[in-house]
Amino acid sequence: MTKAIELNKDIDEARQGEATVIATNKKTVGRKLYVESYGCAMNFADSEVVASILTEKGYATTADVDEADIILINTCSIRENAESRVRKRLTNFKNRKKRQPNLVVGILGCMAERLKTSLLEEEKLVDLVVGPDAYRDLPGLIEEVEGGQKAVNVLLSREETYADITPVRLDKKGISSFVSITRGCDNMCSFCVVPFTRGRERSRDPQTIYNECKELLASGYKEVTLLGQNVDSYRWNMTSKGEIKDSSKPTTNFAQLMEMVAGISPELRIRFSTSHPKDMTDEVLEVIAKHDNICNYIHLPVQSGNSDVLKRMNRGYTREWYIDRVNAIRRIIPDCAITTDIITGFCDETDAEHEDTMSLMREMKWDFAYMYKYSERPKTLAERKFEDNVPDEVKGARLTEVIDLQQKNSLEINQRQIGNINKVLIEGTSKKSEDFLSGRDDHNTKVVFPKGNFGKGDYVMVKIKDCTTATLLGEVVEILESTN
Ligand code: SAH
Ligand code: SF4
Ligand code: F3S
Repeated sequence: MTKAIELNKDIDEARQGEATVIATNKKTVGRKLYVESYGCAMNFADSEVVASILTEKGYATTADVDEADIILINTCSIRENAESRVRKRLTNFKNRKKRQPNLVVGILGCMAERLKTSLLEEEKLVDLVVGPDAYRDLPGLIEEVEGGQKAVNVLLSREETYADITPVRLDKKGISSFVSITRGCDNMCSFCVVPFTRGRERSRDPQTIYNECKELLASGYKEVTLLGQNVDSYRWNMTSKGEIKDSSKPTTNFAQLMEMVAGISPELRIRFSTSHPKDMTDEVLEVIAKHDNICNYIHLPVQSGNSDVLKRMNRGYTREWYIDRVNAIRRIIPDCAITTDIITGFCDETDAEHEDTMSLMREMKWDFAYMYKYSERPKTLAERKFEDNVPDEVKGARLTEVIDLQQKNSLEINQRQIGNINKVLIEGTSKKSEDFLSGRDDHNTKVVFPKGNFGKGDYVMVKIKDCTTATLLGEVVEILESTN
C-alpha cells in the first residue's frame, strides 16, 4: 500500500500533557519530538511505536517542526524517488542545524537500514541512524547524540514485533488506525528492497493484536487496518511449513486472526493490507464474507499481467493463478472491491508482455490501482541478475497507458454505484469544502456529502448521486449510529 505521496503526520498534541506526567528522566522533560513519516502504512504505524517509546521517557511530541528539539524522519526506500525526497528534506535540516546547533536529526526506517552509516559518515546529513527493529534503543541513542556522539543501530531481529508497546496515536482524526500484525518479508520478489530493509518475516502474538484493537474501540476508534507485507502468511505458533511449534498452545492463521478481531464488536470495522495472490486462501475469503464488519475490499497486487514477467519478478504465481484467485473472490464475496499494484518497464519487458498487463486490466477491471515505473534497487535479485534495460521513455509511455486505462475503469465502476445506498464511516470535513463531510464506504471508496446533523465517527447510509474517478458524491438518507 505504498502511496506516492508525502504524508506529514500530525502529532496528537492532546497527549503531550500525558507524556510529561509519565516523565521519568529529568533531562528529557520538555524536549520536543517531531516525527515525519514517508512510505507505506507500516512506517506510519512504526512512527506511533517510536512516539510511544520516547514519550514514556518524558519527551513531548509536537506537530510543529519549527519548535522541535529532535526531528526523526521515518523513511522509505521502495523507489529511488522516495529516497531523493528524504535527502532534500535532510539537507534543509542540515542548514537549520547551523542556526540551532542542539537540534538532533535522526533517520529511521528503510533508508536507515539500507544506507546504514553512509548518511552519517559520508554525507554528514544526520546524527542518528536507527533501523526498523532497533526502536527500543532510541532513548539511549538520543542520549549518546546529546552527549556529543553520533549513534547507530541497524541490527535486524528475527523476533522483534513491538507486541507489548501501545502506540501513541499520531493521527488527529481518531477514527481509523493501523495495527501491525507481521513485520518483515520472506518473499524476495526480485524487484523489491523490503526484505533487505525490514528483515525476516515474523508474526505478532494474536492476543496483543486483539487487545490493541479492543483498546482502540474503547478510546473511540471505529476502524482498524491490520497490516503486513503479506497478511496471508500470518501464522502464530506455526513454522513457515505449517508445522506446530508448541503443541500445548493453540495456533492462529490469518483467517482465524480476522475472526477474533471481527468478533470484538460489530461497530469496529476491519480492513487489512496487503494480500498476496500466491497465499490468499478461500478460508480467508469465507471469513470476510461471513462478517459484515470486515470490509469487502481486497488489495491484491498483480505487478504484471504476463506470466514470464511474473516469473522474473519471482512473484510465485502466474497470470492464470491470479485470475483464479479473483474468480474465487467474486464467487465467495460477490460484492467485493479489488485493487492492485502495477509496475511498468520491468527488466526485459517487451511490448507484447506489456500488452498482457493491459489485457488483464480490461479483464479484471480493478476498482483502483497504484501504478509505478520500475525503479532498480541496489542488492535486489533483479539488480544482480537482470539488466534495467527498458528505456525510461518506454517505461513512462507504458505507465501513461496503464494510468489512462485505470482512470477509465475506475470511472466506469464508480458510475455503476450511482443510485446505490452505501454505508459510510464519517472521517471528517471534506478537504475541498467546509460544508461537506467525507468518509469511506465498505469498498474503501471515498464518499463526500453535505454536512448535516452528524459528525466524525458516525456510520451513515448515503445515497450515491454522482461521481468522479476517485470519489462518490451523495446525500445521507439514514444515520445508523451517532457518537455525538
Ligand atoms: N508487500 C506488498 C508490496 C509492498 S511495496 C506486496 O507484495 O504486494 C508496494 C508496491 O510498490 C509493490 O506492490 C510494487 O508495485 C511497488 N514496488 C516495489 N518495488 C518497486 C520497484 N523497485 N520499482 C517500482 N515499484 C516497486
Ligand atoms: Fe516486497 Fe514481494 Fe515482500 Fe511485497 S511480498 S514486500 S513486493 S518482497
Ligand atoms: Fe514500506 Fe517503503 Fe519500507 S514501502 S517497508 S517504508 S521501503
